[in-house]
Amino acid sequence: MALIGVFDSGVGGLSILDEALRQLPDHDYLYFADSANAPYGEKPPEWIAERSLAVCQSLAEAGCQAIVIACNTATAEAIQHIRAELKTIPIIGVEPGIKPAALQSQKGLVGVLATEATLNSDKFNALLSTLPRDCQFIKQAGAGLVPLIESGQLNAPETAALLAQHLQPMRTAGIDTLVLGCTHYPFLVPLILNQLGSSVLIVDTSEAVVRQLAKQLEAHRIPSEVAGKRSVLLLSTADGARLHSMAMQLLRSNMAELSIDFRTVGLDPAALCR
Ligand code: DGL
Repeated sequence: MALIGVFDSGVGGLSILDEALRQLPDHDYLYFADSANAPYGEKPPEWIAERSLAVCQSLAEAGCQAIVIACNTATAEAIQHIRAELKTIPIIGVEPGIKPAALQSQKGLVGVLATEATLNSDKFNALLSTLPRDCQFIKQAGAGLVPLIESGQLNAPETAALLAQHLQPMRTAGIDTLVLGCTHYPFLVPLILNQLGSSVLIVDTSEAVVRQLAKQLEAHRIPSEVAGKRSVLLLSTADGARLHSMAMQLLRSNMAELSIDFRTVGLDPAALCR
């Protein structure tokens, strides 16, 4: 039976887990939220790389046959290193969908909302340099948004005010397309549409990431069979019960069909499966 690991700095990767449960229902999932260390996006690249590798090694030791790094920041800073260390396991990452956005934008004006670490990373800037010069990207670090999302304040006035501040340069520029370059941000879509108007195209790569996971599972001949209910184990370095209640609130999947368990784990990811 296949066990798939999904890892993020916190609750953001639930947006990817949700899509995985929809597209690939016949697997078990182990979700690791490093919420005690969130936000990653304002930490040094070396720290992000080291921590992300340690978490992925532990997920592999816990029996995961494939790992989704459901975090743009960790993908940008660590995926090459993780793939080099965990050679036999497919590692799938997420990155801001600036390429599809450039193709879809009518005006050639695209906003990119991501963490500071992602926007500053070599990986992101290398991808950016391959795109046509006639598309203009208005990049903005969403400083402060992740802690508000982690604490469940998805509709709070404080969240709306901070978001408005971050979106202002994009509104001024008149973007018609917005890339959500952090897996936490899909949970802000109602607020974003409210502020930018529903004609703005939102580019979120969750669907494409899970399609890539499906391809990798097939290529590695990882079977999809679940006897009885699918299990989802939610692990948090901060508070497992809180992660569980956020998952119940945020996941659109039919929870009654899942066997969900949760646990608070220590900061040492090696203790993850004890
Ligand atoms: N959800 C993450 C991302 O996609 C990281 C957010 C953070 O911890 O700063 O970038």
